[in-house]
Amino acid sequence: MNALGPINPKLPTLWHGGDYNPDQWPPEVRAEDARLMKLAHVNVASTAIFAWSQLEPRPGEYDWSWLDETFERLSKAGVSIALATPSAAHPRWLTALHPEVQAVDRSGHRLPHGTRQRFCPTSPVYREHVARIDRALAERYRDHPSLVLWHVSNEYGNACWCDLCAAEYRTWLEGRYGTLDHLNHQYWSTFWSHRFGAWSEIIPPYAACGVVPDGLVLDWRRFQSHQVCDFFKHEAGVLAEVTPEVPITTNLMGFYGGLDYAKFADVMDVISWDSYPKVGGDPGFVACTHALMRGLKHNLPWMLMEQTPSSTNWMEYNTLKAPGVMRLWSWQAIGHGSDSSMYFQWRRSRGGHEKFHGAVVAHVGHERPRVFQEVAALGEEMDRLGRRIVGTRVAKARVGVLWDQENRWALEGSCGPSRDKRVIETAAKHYRAVWRSNIPVDVVRLDADWSPYDVLIAPMLYLVKSGRFPLQAPPEEMTPRANEAEKIAKWVAAGGTFVATYLTGIVNESDLVYEGGYPGPLRPVLGLWAEEIDMPEPGKGANTLVTRKSAFAGAKPKYKCDRVFDLINTEGAKVLATYGSNWYKGRPCLTVNPCGQGLAYYIATDPEDAFLADFYRAVAAAKGIVPLVKPAADVEALLREGPDRKLLFLLNHAAKARQVSLGKVRGKDLLSGMAVKDQVKIEPYGVRIIECA
Ligand code: GLA
Ligand code: ZN
Repeated sequence: MNALGPINPKLPTLWHGGDYNPDQWPPEVRAEDARLMKLAHVNVASTAIFAWSQLEPRPGEYDWSWLDETFERLSKAGVSIALATPSAAHPRWLTALHPEVQAVDRSGHRLPHGTRQRFCPTSPVYREHVARIDRALAERYRDHPSLVLWHVSNEYGNACWCDLCAAEYRTWLEGRYGTLDHLNHQYWSTFWSHRFGAWSEIIPPYAACGVVPDGLVLDWRRFQSHQVCDFFKHEAGVLAEVTPEVPITTNLMGFYGGLDYAKFADVMDVISWDSYPKVGGDPGFVACTHALMRGLKHNLPWMLMEQTPSSTNWMEYNTLKAPGVMRLWSWQAIGHGSDSSMYFQWRRSRGGHEKFHGAVVAHVGHERPRVFQEVAALGEEMDRLGRRIVGTRVAKARVGVLWDQENRWALEGSCGPSRDKRVIETAAKHYRAVWRSNIPVDVVRLDADWSPYDVLIAPMLYLVKSGRFPLQAPPEEMTPRANEAEKIAKWVAAGGTFVATYLTGIVNESDLVYEGGYPGPLRPVLGLWAEEIDMPEPGKGANTLVTRKSAFAGAKPKYKCDRVFDLINTEGAKVLATYGSNWYKGRPCLTVNPCGQGLAYYIATDPEDAFLADFYRAVAAAKGIVPLVKPAADVEALLREGPDRKLLFLLNHAAKARQVSLGKVRGKDLLSGMAVKDQVKIEPYGVRIIECA
């Protein structure tokens, strides 16, 4: 896929559709589906996702009839197909023949056949069967004009603790560390006599093991992710061989903790993800998650693969999306760079676990329900605007929040300094502060090219990679491993503004603490050393961040802070604010260190939102970065741009109408066709997409 899309030139518009399971329905219902899809302006269907038992009812005996019929019927209805590989749910006969394809859980027990996503990613037998069915599918439909995308598997997330996985893990560790001495040192395994005397003594951290070295647990998480990614490569490899022209995706899950999606992104042609926000939740968190997913592939257009048209069935409470909300959230995703809005699922199933899950076609089976009507109305809009939007991508941001899954794992896995670390919440909090000011902001990979950015925020960058591991990377992982401290220092020296927080620069990639004090290799760039960290119960140690004169433009005299209080000593950095109370009153809690052409800030505490908003507005302004439009309560502003156009998305997340001052922006609202300037009114849950003049 090129930088401006489309996902597939065969369907050069916004994609509208969703999970479609014709394998579950009789022919008369399938015929009705085609009529309804036309009414709903559906142009793509993700098909056969969990259909293995219908595709191959008995070992080696394929039944293509229903899928052939689906291809023909949908292509007549103008609906393309995102064809799934069925690996997420294998047939019972496969388990009966080869019980070892079932994963083993953390307690060490082989799981019986049951739910989906329960296979062992290492099992050669499973890999062989998956390659066989994937190849058969690819060969059968390779030349069908309707095939536009591979939807590989579904929401990979398999964790397996079997002996095959354990053996692979040991080999992987040997490649990473070379010698046992090295591994023992990195794991600090003398602690509690954990020392390993032979590779064979290393076992996965089963539940019953209790406490084992943190480094080992972190490596196990890395390895599990690596192994599932390797399985994905195995599937993708077969497809790329047979249908090199068809782009490949697999649907991801936002901040899901089981996998390092950065590694997956490198195998995917286009990112796709499944977004299920809580109704009434925070649109800023959704925005942050869209940015996280988009950033995996350096902000290329991506796909909203699944959302519910109305409600989920699996949350504790399942609130319906009020009229307008589904449309608003769809345009929000598109404003964040998605080239699709798709649903789980097309038709509500009659039985099974998801019979209460929202779907485009309700059990009543016709087009009259509100949900269908809203989907159809959105489809009509997407049809109308599709070719104007595809060919643009989310505008280049100059501010980014750094995110690294390995850092998250290490922080979450460490006992202390407190349990209440809020890794995801903190990243989202910093993101939100910038986003709320209507300043374009990305979530950026640690290994990305940072040169487009002027400001990079690194909330709790606890783990800073030294670049020394693995010693022998498997060939497909030969991306040079940066020394991250060096990368940061160089980027700052060249003029970047770097913002670090408490809990930064503590360990290397094996969770081994850097010698010489925190923030380890970032000490020179930040110009300080951190001595102790106080993490009392929220509210019990509430403090204030008292700013010094001209700390930053527009700073208030003081802000609230709570929960985390890093006690730091400057060694070159300038103090901008100090704690207002407690026995550490007067000690620095906000500093800046000039380095070459750039600046490195350190926020030693967890401040209130108002501080972050004021601070980031000032930091951005100092770089000449200004809001897209003046912030208005509840209204999100996003920009997509292409060679010849700029599209400003204004999204009202409130149930009340809002006014937005456009400043110098003027143009045409593509949805209403009306010219707009000065002030624009946005209806409750309303959307404006302004093509700027
Ligand atoms: C996930 C899955 C779908 C479906 C939905 C329900 O996203 O990919 O198959 O189970 O959840 O919300
Ligand atoms: Zn396994």
